[in-house]
Amino acid sequence: SNDNLLSRQLQEWYRQYRRDLPWRDSNNPYAVWVSEIILQQTRVNQGRDYFLRFMERFPDIESLAKAPEDEVMKCWEGLGYYSRARNLHAAARQVVEEFKGHFPASHDEMLRLKGVGEYTAAAVASIVFGQPYPVVDGNVFRVLSRLFAIKEPIDTSTGRKLFTGTAAAILDPQDPGTHNQAIMELGALVCTPRLPRCGECPLQHYCMAFERGEVSAFPVKKGK
Ligand code: ADE
Ligand code: SF4
Repeated sequence: SNDNLLSRQLQEWYRQYRRDLPWRDSNNPYAVWVSEIILQQTRVNQGRDYFLRFMERFPDIESLAKAPEDEVMKCWEGLGYYSRARNLHAAARQVVEEFKGHFPASHDEMLRLKGVGEYTAAAVASIVFGQPYPVVDGNVFRVLSRLFAIKEPIDTSTGRKLFTGTAAAILDPQDPGTHNQAIMELGALVCTPRLPRCGECPLQHYCMAFERGEVSAFPVKKGK
């Protein structure tokens, strides 16, 4: 939107520099759901190959629901965090049984699916259905902590609430899906954990940590 300059500049950067990934700009909730489940604990480069194989083997939610469990697990072999695959399979069966085969089209309904938490529901709801939910993953914690020099630890429930509120405050309600993907991509490509590329950052003039020369002090973790 016009009054959210920060998000506009972020999205303009994203349009120019984003990686071309197979799930980007998909309006298929099944594909975006599978990609977000994979990306929660897997790097994009490894995730891309698994995503393509998974979609070839199980091209839609019916085929996943109908598949025997061992075939789903076989397709996931090597990716780790195997409860993700078991939950995907169980949720596909839930969609067939409880939602007549239609992937739920709202954030709140998605939360009823096995393995779908706040992160996944916000990602799919914003990217596919344009619903204004902020996505807050590790990349977003880091970008926000630096942008606003937030000293609250990211690994406490108070911290998570504060960061979720901050993410909501800068969200673009006109295009929450692009905004959410753009801030995650900025964290992956520019505002990296070590040696962030502040010289190439579209948000540098908004960034309080940069202004104070304290970029490496963020994010703060309570630890243990
Ligand atoms: N990491 C997880 N999901 C992502 C997405 N949709 N875009 C960029 N990075 C991501
Ligand atoms: Fe991150 Fe640097 Fe950009 Fe601030 S200026 S958001 S620290 S990359």
